[in-house]
Amino acid sequence: MTIQISKALWHIYNRAARPYPWQLHAGNLPWDDPAFSARMLREHLDESHGAASRQTAERAKQIEWLWANLGLQAGSRLLDITCGPGLYAVEFARRGCHVTGIDFGPAAIAYAQELAAAQDVANRCTFIQQDVRQMAQDGADFDAALLLYGQLAVMPKSDAQDVLVRAARALRPGGRICLELLNPEKVDKKESNWWFTDNTGLWGDAPFLHLGERFWLAEEQVSVERYHILHLETGVLDVVELCDQVYQPEEIQQMLEAAGFTAASAPHSAGVTIHPAWDNLPLYDAAEWIVYVGVKG
Ligand SMILES: C[S@@+](CC[C@H](N)C(=O)[O-])C[C@H]1O[C@@H](n2cnc3c(N)ncnc32)[C@H](O)[C@@H]1O
Repeated sequence: MTIQISKALWHIYNRAARPYPWQLHAGNLPWDDPAFSARMLREHLDESHGAASRQTAERAKQIEWLWANLGLQAGSRLLDITCGPGLYAVEFARRGCHVTGIDFGPAAIAYAQELAAAQDVANRCTFIQQDVRQMAQDGADFDAALLLYGQLAVMPKSDAQDVLVRAARALRPGGRICLELLNPEKVDKKESNWWFTDNTGLWGDAPFLHLGERFWLAEEQVSVERYHILHLETGVLDVVELCDQVYQPEEIQQMLEAAGFTAASAPHSAGVTIHPAWDNLPLYDAAEWIVYVGVKG
């Protein structure tokens, strides 16, 4: 064990000075790892913070906003891309929508199914455990799609463009997509580091040391958080690099148009509408976000 810990410390000492984005576990958290997914589910359901899913009261405000801005009504067909534990999807189903949620977190999908059953809306909900980069809902004729909490940005641009194309194919003409992405002006571009110890939490349920570093890759416009988590009882070292592509609004508009959403130049089209800070909804972090609504051409 001492040898293991010594090896792990040397590994940390010899780490790359700068991360190569998207290389390690595709630059994302290990959401699809069953043990991590089970621990993450606790965070989604923890009402003391909104880091994994927003707290219920804030979510209710967003759901009202989405209902109005996506033109939803009872009977609408909604696709929730990266639905997590279904906290939005099931609420829309309670309002009469037919919802399909896609997420690759096993515990999240299992919880979403249980929640739908508990709320008596399982007949209006379909939850699929799948990487959204493989999503194939072509011609499904959805009225609307959600891609919330910045998840489009945790994949490389080419994958993000492809997911938008897949989303467009799932929608009927005139169907709307809502994308929530970080406001590029608010992204933390300062390099920093931190550490803490704990014996339970997202990273494990036995004593661990978490070492974190934040990098700003200006050329690529990518923010990377790199974590080294040393499990003290086993000497096992986990390394995670969480990448976030930072987009300017014009680029998102172009990507949506390239995917098949209407351009402002099209006849009778407002194009993509941009809603900084969720149109000032009272969310604790609203200022950090921009919401985009696109209409399928
Ligand atoms: C921050 S959570 C938000 C979940 C949900 N939208 C909410 O707000 O409650 C991000 C979710 O995206 C999912 N996710 C990230 N990348 C994904 C991918 N490539 N395919 C499927 N799901 C993905 C994760 O499993 C996780 O459940």
